[in-house]
Amino acid sequence: MNRTTRRWRVTMGATVAGLGLLAATALSAQAAGSTLHEAAADQGRYFGTALAQGKLNDTQYTTIADREFGMITAENEMKMDATEPQQGVFDYSAGDRIVDWATGHGKQVRGHALAWHSQQPGWMQSMEGSALRQAMLNHVTQVATHYRGKVYAWDVVNEAFSDNGDGSRRDSNLQRTGNDWIEAAFEAARAADPDAKLCYNDYNTDSWTNPKTQAVYAMVKDFRSRGVPIDCVGFQAHFNSGNPVPNNYHETLQRFADLGVDVQITELDIEGSGGSQAEQFSGVTQACLAVERCTGITVWGVRDTDSWRASGTPLLFDGNGQKKAAYHAVLDVLNGGEPGDGGSATS
Ligand code: XIL
Repeated sequence: MNRTTRRWRVTMGATVAGLGLLAATALSAQAAGSTLHEAAADQGRYFGTALAQGKLNDTQYTTIADREFGMITAENEMKMDATEPQQGVFDYSAGDRIVDWATGHGKQVRGHALAWHSQQPGWMQSMEGSALRQAMLNHVTQVATHYRGKVYAWDVVNEAFSDNGDGSRRDSNLQRTGNDWIEAAFEAARAADPDAKLCYNDYNTDSWTNPKTQAVYAMVKDFRSRGVPIDCVGFQAHFNSGNPVPNNYHETLQRFADLGVDVQITELDIEGSGGSQAEQFSGVTQACLAVERCTGITVWGVRDTDSWRASGTPLLFDGNGQKKAAYHAVLDVLNGGEPGDGGSATS
C-alpha cells in the first residue's frame, strides 16, 4: 500500500456543532484511501474482484487488479466442472494459478463455488440420488481440502432457491437428493477446512420483501438454531434496469447480519452508465458500510469488457481501463464522503 500518495483531509466529526475553539484542537487528520482496496480497508472492509486466469497475462488487467483490489474470486476456475472434470479426477491447475497470483500480490481469496446446479461436469449432470449425494460430498471435501488455509471464505452452496415467488428450493439434481443436501455440504466443508468462513450465496435476494430473500433467511435462521456450520451469506448483486438496487437493501443486509452471520456482496455489477449507474453503486456501498457485519464487496470483473454481460457495461472500469463515474462514486463513499461530493470532508 502506497500511503505516501494518499490525499489527506481533515474531519471534524461530531465536534462540529457548538464546541467552538475546542473543536479546533480536536481536529483529526484522517487519510483518504486512493484506491478501492485502501479505502475499504480503512473502513475495516475488503474490496475485491473476480479474475479469469486466461487474462493474467494482460498487464492492463493485472495492473488494475493489483492496484485496486484486496480480495480475489476465481470467475470460473474453482467451479465443479473446472476442478473435477472426470469423476474422482481433480484438476486444480487453473484455480491454483488464480490463488498463486492473488497470494503473490498480497491478496486474499474467496472460494467459489463448491456445490451448484450449474457448471457441473458432464458426468455429474447425469447423476441422481445417493450416488450424486456421495459424489457432491466428495467433491466438497476434496476441493475444500486442497484449498485449505488458502481461502478466506467459500461459497459452499450457490443459487439453491427458485425465482418462482413461492420461496421454494430450485429444482435440480442436487435438490432431488433430499432437502438436507445444503446442510450436508456445509458440514463437509467445515470438516475439510475448519478455518474458512462458509457462505450461502445467491441472487435476487436483495429486496427484503422478496419471497426468495425470506426463504434464504429462514434457512439461515434454521441452520443457526440447529448448529449447522454457516458463517456468512453472499449477495451476488447483479443489477440492471429491470432489477435495480432495492430501497430496502440496507434492511436486508442488516436482518441477515442480525442472525449472527457475516454478509458480503459477492458478485456486484450494475448495468448502465453515467450518473444513474454511479448512484446505484454508491447505494450498495453505503448499505454495506452501514452494516457492521458486511465485511466486504466484490465486483464481478475488472473492466466492462471483462464482464460476463459486457454489453451492459456494468463495472467500475471502462474497456480502456479508465475509471468510470461509478468508480469515483464508490471511492467517495468508502472515504466517508457523500456520494458525488468529490470525497471532501464530512461533517
Ligand atoms: C459466470 C461467469 O462470469 C461466466 O464467465 C460464466 O460463463 C458463467 O458464470 N452467478 C454466479 C457466477 O455465481 O459464478 C456466474 O459467473 C454469474 C452468476
